[in-house]
Amino acid sequence: MKGILLCGGSGTRLLPLTRVTNKHLLPVGNKPMVFYPLEKMKEAGINDILVITGTEHLGDIVSLLGSGSDYGVSFTYKVQDKPLGIAHAVSLGNRFIGNDDFVVILGDNIFEFDMKKLIDKFKSVGRSLIVLRKSKNPNRFGVARIVNNELEEIVEKPGEDISDFIVTGVYFYKPEIFKYFPRLTLSARGEYEISDLHNYLIKDKKLDYSIEESFWSDAGTLETYFEVNRKYGKL
Ligand code: TTP
Repeated sequence: MKGILLCGGSGTRLLPLTRVTNKHLLPVGNKPMVFYPLEKMKEAGINDILVITGTEHLGDIVSLLGSGSDYGVSFTYKVQDKPLGIAHAVSLGNRFIGNDDFVVILGDNIFEFDMKKLIDKFKSVGRSLIVLRKSKNPNRFGVARIVNNELEEIVEKPGEDISDFIVTGVYFYKPEIFKYFPRLTLSARGEYEISDLHNYLIKDKKLDYSIEESFWSDAGTLETYFEVNRKYGKL
């Protein structure tokens, strides 16, 4: 299996911390944010990793990560010219992935899911799999509508109560997902939405889910950035 680590985006919610640097290079505890999802890739046994980032901070990302030999992995880099969304970034991995199964992790996701268990589940269900987690504040995420244990729909930042289960930034994909990207259109906020991809997969019965209970947070708002620093800030 291969991996894609997403380190693009604008990081506007962390301004001014992200004025001159990439969000994923900011410290969380005693290391850069991106080390946390990287360690999770390694835990999953994935060492062939595509790093995707924007033009502005590519040099700094490469300076930190290098070839990957310091971390026991091999990095390939790809530029996302404009932050056109998570689905757009993933679509850039097409040639790198080829016919392999792969994991995508958002570079600002910090979590303690058991990756070996998730890989085993992904392999046993034989279709793409997203990781859900209960949230007290679900409506700022993609929220899963589940009926009779079946995934019915992902609703992006719903205005009404759908469920408490949000879609985390850890995705296990079959290479067949690449054929869905041409169907996606820009959303109202000007992005290709990963929830749209997931809804196409759900329609074709090609998406499974796993509900996890261990710690997960994104670190993309000042509040959550502070929270993960409080949790991981001990030496
Ligand atoms: P977001 O937090 O949704 O977006 P952002 O990083 O641009 O931040 P903000 O909304 O505050 O401006 O992104 C989630 C993750 O996905 C993050 O780790 C960066 C990555 N990402 C990309 O790689 N490319 C993109 O085009 C976008 C939007 C996000």
